[in-house]
Amino acid sequence: MRNLIDILDFSKEEIDSLIDVATDIISNPEKYSEVCHGKILGTLFFEPSTRTRLSFTSAMMSLGGNVLGFSNVSSSSVAKGETVADTVRMASAYSDIIAMRHPKEGAPIVASRVSSVPIINAGDGGHFHPTQTLTDLITIKRKLGRLDNLTVGICGDLKYGRTVHSLIAAMARYEGIKFVLISPDELKLPDYVKEEFLSDKSSYKEVHDLDSNMSELDILYMTRIQAERFGSADEYERLKDSYILTKEKLKDAKPTLSIMHPLPRVTEIDVEVDDDPRAHYFDQAANGRYIRMALILKLLAERQAPSKRARGEENPSLVCRNPHCITSTERGIKKLFSGNCCIYCDQTAVEK
Ligand code: NCD
Repeated sequence: MRNLIDILDFSKEEIDSLIDVATDIISNPEKYSEVCHGKILGTLFFEPSTRTRLSFTSAMMSLGGNVLGFSNVSSSSVAKGETVADTVRMASAYSDIIAMRHPKEGAPIVASRVSSVPIINAGDGGHFHPTQTLTDLITIKRKLGRLDNLTVGICGDLKYGRTVHSLIAAMARYEGIKFVLISPDELKLPDYVKEEFLSDKSSYKEVHDLDSNMSELDILYMTRIQAERFGSADEYERLKDSYILTKEKLKDAKPTLSIMHPLPRVTEIDVEVDDDPRAHYFDQAANGRYIRMALILKLLAERQAPSKRARGEENPSLVCRNPHCITSTERGIKKLFSGNCCIYCDQTAVEK
């Protein structure tokens, strides 16, 4: 069975074809309005969400299907101490496809190992967010006409920003992509993301300053400082206003710049920028519905296809020490490694 856990579960060709289907849906919505009649999407949101959950719900409804699930763990048996695996076993008996969001990294992998229906990762902790990346890619394609030969500025919380990690993984596969990674030292891109996706060191630079790098950017992807993932409230207070995009700061930007943001925004883009024709973040959110429709269709159609994901192996001499990894909380979980890497959170494990 195919799942979408990590954006690299899909080839570039598969992403192209999802964008083509979503584009056809935008032009001919009536053609798709009953294709999922009788199908049920389960939405298991163990962490807050507005756009992702609503766009999944809207996507399934626009395909003629139904939706069940929860958006708050306090209204589910998770509040009674149920494991992720047990919750997903049940939900997969009641639905045909599941979209889930969880605060722990790797939780969707736990789900995919017990589910009888396809699992879509709608965000796992500060790790990955592949469906946001699909939304980002269709937006770039529609606004700029291409996914290659672009200078992509990514600004803000590159450490905890899961949308950033998945976007880099996806875009690093295209020709002529240069990343300008703009963050304070404390919020730099994690090493595991660099090692996995940015092996070509000439394809990126890490800088602190947004203004002096503005003029070379084709895309400026702003991100929220992820308050909920900080260990210390003081550190968040110190870093929260690191970058604030204003009209004034855009004076040196290209006329064709695409300003993007996965949303929700806090202070990092001043509302005065919303009127700028280069502000694409609301269109980006709107595209989320159509690309998720295409995704649901693809995964339902490929239920019989074999998974392409490596399964990992047990290794009693290794331990994952990432406190945000699902292995730190889930009872009865098999600790699996690929080489010395934890397969759930992708961080390097250590010898016991
Ligand atoms: C993002 C997320 O949840 O990671 N939001 C979204 O899904 N559009 C970004 C964020 O919360 O900052």
